[in-house]
Amino acid sequence: MPQTLVLRRPDDWHIHLRDGAALLSLVPAAARQFARAIVMPNLRPPVTTVQAALAYRNAIMAAVPAGMAFEPLMTLYLTDNTSADEVARAAASDHVHGIKYYPAGATTNSESGVTRIERASAALEAMERHGLPLLMHGEVTDPAIDIFDRERVFLDTVLEPLRRRFPSLRIVLEHITTAEAAAFVTEATGPVAATLTAQHLLLNRNAIFDGGIRPHAYCLPVLKRESHRQALLAAATSGNPRFFLGTDSAPHTRANKESGCGHAGVYSAHAAIELYAEAFEAAGALDRLEAFASLNGPRFYGLAANEGQVTLERLDWTVPASYPMGDDTVVPLRAGHTLHWRLV
Ligand code: DOR
Ligand code: ZN
Repeated sequence: MPQTLVLRRPDDWHIHLRDGAALLSLVPAAARQFARAIVMPNLRPPVTTVQAALAYRNAIMAAVPAGMAFEPLMTLYLTDNTSADEVARAAASDHVHGIKYYPAGATTNSESGVTRIERASAALEAMERHGLPLLMHGEVTDPAIDIFDRERVFLDTVLEPLRRRFPSLRIVLEHITTAEAAAFVTEATGPVAATLTAQHLLLNRNAIFDGGIRPHAYCLPVLKRESHRQALLAAATSGNPRFFLGTDSAPHTRANKESGCGHAGVYSAHAAIELYAEAFEAAGALDRLEAFASLNGPRFYGLAANEGQVTLERLDWTVPASYPMGDDTVVPLRAGHTLHWRLV
């Protein structure tokens, strides 16, 4: 059994860093392991312009601890009104790397999202032309569709037609949760990739109901049954460069999670690379972790891989019950559990 694991420094291709006082807790947690991260724009109000993205970037940079290097890769939030001009400005910016599609009402702060994808046609056409990636929350929002089927239905009713209309549009299907999504990405003929979270590789939906209701295991898209987890793990460890690391670390305060209507989101930045190491080791694929965590993402986004390295050591440690988040606290993934890898 290897006792240490040296990886080229990884990146997180999907993270929520929030804003305000929380930045001072969340940015260092990400920066300790990741050189760069694709930063989600679902703030209140959402980040819909390059100007807003640059202001948000400055706030993030101000929260990077002295002596640490971290580069936030910014995104815009797609709305029914995103103009082709704004897309052109985004494509011309050194700091904006994609535009995020939230179906209106699908998840946290998605109220301003796209109501019907046809309404975003001008922006999508411009993105295809400029080569700017579309990062998709891949779920339908129709309340008549069972929540466990919303990703699968999205593939057929939204993604497949979108691919036909914009075959050269670069698409990242974010935080995939089903065997069908993994197959869609594997079989796609164009520039389609997917991110995978640690929780969807480690847990199945039983975790939400383990001896009682477990709000800290609730995220969107919701965890699926075990056969899907296995398919996702197979995709992540397959060596296929279309699959790469995106934590979707999405912290909410303890009070907002442990509530009569708990918010969706799992916080994993406290131990992200360790959690992925755990999943890859369980699949007997530790040797594939570096490509997934450090090489495939930059390749899809047209960026160079990082120069530095990180070292993980085999060491048992217990995840704290909570971490500070601004003036509040957040309960992390695997709180109170023992992990077997630790970032040096
Ligand atoms: O669980 C989630 N939380 N899924 C999302 O898509 C958004 C995120 C958040 O911002 O909290
Ligand atoms: Zn997210």
